[in-house]
Amino acid sequence: MDNKAAYYSLTGSDPELGAVATGSHIDAIPYSGKYDGVVGVLGALEAINVLKRSGFQPKRSLEVILFTSEEPTRFGISCLGSRLLAGSEALVNGIKESVDDQNTSFFDAAKSAGYVVSEENLSTVILEKGSYFSFLELHIEQGPLLEEEGVSIGIVTAIAAPASIKVEFEGNGGHAGAVLMPERNDAGLAAAELALAVEKHVLETGSMDSVGTVGIIVLHPGAINSIPSKSHIEIDTRDIDEKRRDGIVEKIHQSSIDIAKRRGVKLSEFRIVNQDPPAKCDHLIINALEVAVRQLNLSHKMMISRAYHDSLFMARVSPMGMIFIPCYKGYSHKPEEYASIEDIANGVNVLALTLAQLSLE
Ligand code: GLV
Ligand code: MN
Ligand code: MN
Repeated sequence: MDNKAAYYSLTGSDPELGAVATGSHIDAIPYSGKYDGVVGVLGALEAINVLKRSGFQPKRSLEVILFTSEEPTRFGISCLGSRLLAGSEALVNGIKESVDDQNTSFFDAAKSAGYVVSEENLSTVILEKGSYFSFLELHIEQGPLLEEEGVSIGIVTAIAAPASIKVEFEGNGGHAGAVLMPERNDAGLAAAELALAVEKHVLETGSMDSVGTVGIIVLHPGAINSIPSKSHIEIDTRDIDEKRRDGIVEKIHQSSIDIAKRRGVKLSEFRIVNQDPPAKCDHLIINALEVAVRQLNLSHKMMISRAYHDSLFMARVSPMGMIFIPCYKGYSHKPEEYASIEDIANGVNVLALTLAQLSLE
């Protein structure tokens, strides 16, 4: 293990060539399922073990990467590990201030997990373009299509563009009985109105590919008999069309300004935490995946990923591809998430065969 990531590998006969990497994440949101990310890490280990057991000798080395903090719930930004590896300038500068809800800084958390990363050597984790010949991620679909259509494997062609925004309103607060309705500047109602505006702006694009979610609203002081004097909202919006997604972000900003004005509250923060472009999967990898599913006699379909993944950021430094497997009713980010052993085994077989092909290129 070094300060880049946790590695498990199979050394190629020509280790000077760019390696073929695979992996995912094992962190999770609160009250999540057990398969999101984990399948792509344990599956990667198993795929390489299968190749080792079969005596396969790759030309390019094969490596497993376990990314830290893919979910945004600990340090407030998604795909922290892969973003850093891909050299996000904003993150390298912003990470110094990042703390979790226990007030543990990113660097203290990294240190206690055994990493040697610090403010001084943070930029050394950045991967140079071409460090990897290709990167592949196995993941549950997190949507219902493969199961509904009885298809074994999804070959991902592109990953949708995510954005996240933090907004804060401040009002006068006051006593829930004594302050009359016309006198109020209720920061909680401003937040509620903004949540509905997010839904409206997403729906008015008229596209099923536009989505928006308000997953966090925190009201201060949080007492039933006190008018909220502060509200904090976190908004997630995504689209496969980056321009359309950017249009939604702009409208959310305008609504935040308008709502604050109309309700007499202060818009004390409007911060775009990330506004990432979409990523396209690489043709060579897609072709290799098609060869693998055909060899294994598995049904497959081409599909886009509406969820984001570490692959979105790995695509900035390496050709990238993703394999989806069905999951029960498309459930994800909730405890009912499930993928069958058979489907996981299919995914691992496709991964192993594709890694093998790419490692000989
Ligand atoms: C990943 O966890 C996502 O929210 O798409
Ligand atoms: Mn997730
Ligand atoms: Mn995931």
